[in-house]
Amino acid sequence: MIAVFRLRDGSVRALSAVCPHRGGPLADGQIDLKQVVCPLHLYAWDLATGCSLSGQDPVTSYPVRVDDDQLFVEV
Ligand code: FES
Repeated sequence: MIAVFRLRDGSVRALSAVCPHRGGPLADGQIDLKQVVCPLHLYAWDLATGCSLSGQDPVTSYPVRVDDDQLFVEV
């Protein structure tokens, strides 16, 4: 599963949707322009790289773009 986020600036990011901590739903996390925060235990990951900002394992980050109103995610 892949979670796709549209940021306030209109850009999009795609990360693995499963939190590596205990399997929480990252797609339901709170985001800003830099990070997503898992709703279960509030650990954070960088939306661009998938690197943890709180000492956890990284999540997979996928290249994503919008072209002609279509979303493309490279897997
Ligand atoms: S399950 Fe996501 S932070 Fe714990």
